[in-house]
Amino acid sequence: MILNKKIIEDAKKNNKVLFFDKAITNVPNWNSFIDNLNYKFNSEKKYSLIEDKRMVNDVLIYNKMDPCVFNILTDNTESKTIIEAENVLSIFNKIMGFKSGCVKSLINFVGNEAKYYIHADEHDVLSWHCIGQVEWRIYPNIILDKNIDPPTDVDEPYESYILNPGDVLYVPRGVVHQVVVDQPRASIVYNYYY
Ligand SMILES: [Fe+2]
Repeated sequence: MILNKKIIEDAKKNNKVLFFDKAITNVPNWNSFIDNLNYKFNSEKKYSLIEDKRMVNDVLIYNKMDPCVFNILTDNTESKTIIEAENVLSIFNKIMGFKSGCVKSLINFVGNEAKYYIHADEHDVLSWHCIGQVEWRIYPNIILDKNIDPPTDVDEPYESYILNPGDVLYVPRGVVHQVVVDQPRASIVYNYYY
């Protein structure tokens, strides 16, 4: 499938997830991620433990199993950037037709299996997978109850998408999903609010 505006618009209307195999293969290497991460840790800026969804330069680590998450491309000072991520941002912005709310890098350094909680986002996601492998599970039958803690294990059918370097996944706002990691990986996610 070719990544383009028409296909994304149709998927958005129909609340459909799209998988683009090897769509953008010039992925950054570990050093690019680690350089950027080191910059964030060495900077004077505060690291937030509470996610601010928009345009905040932060490093997020909720617990040991969670990925290290840091925003990129949102710092107007001398932040080290990941040039490949910037190039992809301009491609995605053309496809999506507006500016991204934020661009985040998600990294797991440890290969322990981690299942993140099942949730739905309030924004569209274009996830560009860069290093290692990651699985996205889409749960078409689950309706989440905001009053209870989101589950990590359920006995419900799901669609599985295994992402390898260069693959892109489009997940419209509201689609219930879970990310499962069983090896070190790095992904860059572009969140589109509207
Ligand atoms: Fe999500």
